[in-house]
Amino acid sequence: MAEARVVHRLDRSLGSGRLAGLLTGIAGERPGYRALAQGVRTLLLDGRVPLHTRLPAERELASALAVSRATVTAAYDVLREGGYARSRRGAGTWTELPAGRRPSSVAVFPAGDDVLDLAIAAPGAPEAELTEALGAAAAMLAEHAPTPGYHPYGIPALRAAVAERFTRRGLPTLPDQILITTGAQHALSLALALLGRPGDRVLVENPSYPNALDAIRRAGLRAVPVPVTEDGWDSGLIESSLRQAAPRLAYLVPDFQNPTGALMPREQRVRILDTARATGTWLLIDETIADIALDVPPPAPFASLAPHGAGEQVVTVGSLSKSHWGGLRIGWVRAGSKLITELAMARVPVDMSTPVIEQLVALRLLRGVDDVLRARLPRLRAQRDALAASLARHVPEWRWQVPPGGLSLWVDLGRPIASSLARAALAHGVRIEGGSRFGADPGTHEHRLRVPYTLPPAQAEQAAIRLAATLTEDLRTPDTAPDRRPWVA
Ligand SMILES: Cc1ncc(COP(=O)(O)O)c(C=O)c1O
Repeated sequence: MAEARVVHRLDRSLGSGRLAGLLTGIAGERPGYRALAQGVRTLLLDGRVPLHTRLPAERELASALAVSRATVTAAYDVLREGGYARSRRGAGTWTELPAGRRPSSVAVFPAGDDVLDLAIAAPGAPEAELTEALGAAAAMLAEHAPTPGYHPYGIPALRAAVAERFTRRGLPTLPDQILITTGAQHALSLALALLGRPGDRVLVENPSYPNALDAIRRAGLRAVPVPVTEDGWDSGLIESSLRQAAPRLAYLVPDFQNPTGALMPREQRVRILDTARATGTWLLIDETIADIALDVPPPAPFASLAPHGAGEQVVTVGSLSKSHWGGLRIGWVRAGSKLITELAMARVPVDMSTPVIEQLVALRLLRGVDDVLRARLPRLRAQRDALAASLARHVPEWRWQVPPGGLSLWVDLGRPIASSLARAALAHGVRIEGGSRFGADPGTHEHRLRVPYTLPPAQAEQAAIRLAATLTEDLRTPDTAPDRRPWVA
């Protein structure tokens, strides 16, 4: 029964040429079959080969790798014995994960006074500006207080201010193309529910922002993962996935991707736009982190690269959560005005509208956004450097690439211990999530840890010391925790 279900879900396969291209660094390793099995296992745990992907036929892979068929047969045996593959006569061999590697995560844990919270990659508010904006909002309230205060589309002045900012960033936008939402998360859920039907496919990055992946699952949509690393995206694979799976939607975070920090180059954006137009796929572009451009100029909106008229198929979401404060719960959708009307109709049964006072505060904050970022970005840069220095000092075996922007390091632990490390870290006063929480396929990215640099340097140093202390524990315990999904951001 379970097997039938797995076979039913098998809708992706990997060609021998592609797998051979991914298997770098195994040539010459002895014994060859073990190196091959280890290579495939690493690709699977890394998310570069998705779970439940049909592996090439033995003969084809042997020929692509210029090894004997017996080597591939033995490697597939090793993978099966370890629980990393399954085979069925006539159906081939596909990737699997051993039962103990099923999704797991630490319990929801209220961060107490002495707990350093590294599960949330979001900064605190710019306090002085927030206080000033609250005062300004109180003064503006007189205009709104006599009205009922329900604005399903958002208050007109804020829609205009968000539209004006898109225009300033290179994407001409009218206020009626903007819907104000209760954060980007709300915007994502609305767009997924309106554009997708249960069972539809959604191309997603792997790893990706967990709450978006959860929203996709909850909407009954089927994720089609494509790998992303700190080195970026594979355009060829995205294009072939779009063409083969013809997904209804593609959810992408092109600006300082969460959790890898990668920034998608312009040519890749153009290619994705072209392919998605050909396959009729909606592009759901999450620009929540776009303002956190630390080493590069702020990226232009993704939709600004669409040829005239084609931009309608791009739905952009954003928010003030990273530039200002997540506690405001102010986000938006930018899309064609017809779609905005449909989204506004869809949000009424959920929350009617976003609170007016928060919108007035946001309006004021948006006016000074450049000043806030001028102060915020150098601080984040300094915190990023301080965190990197602390980790290098206390956990020198860990590796990472410094991302050009965003709020976290995507750390390679060198061994697949992230879930047990995260669980053990709680006892040492650190709340953090293992990489698998970001995996589109459960149980992958176990050798990764997302470490935000949102804490001040002294706390980052403490966190590094505590994580190093955690490493002295036995972290090889098989992971059998039930699937509890704590919240991260
Ligand atoms: C990529 C991405 N999208 C959306 C969100 C949610 O943003 P908001 O707080 O505006 O709902 C986050 C927050 O971490 C994020 O990283």
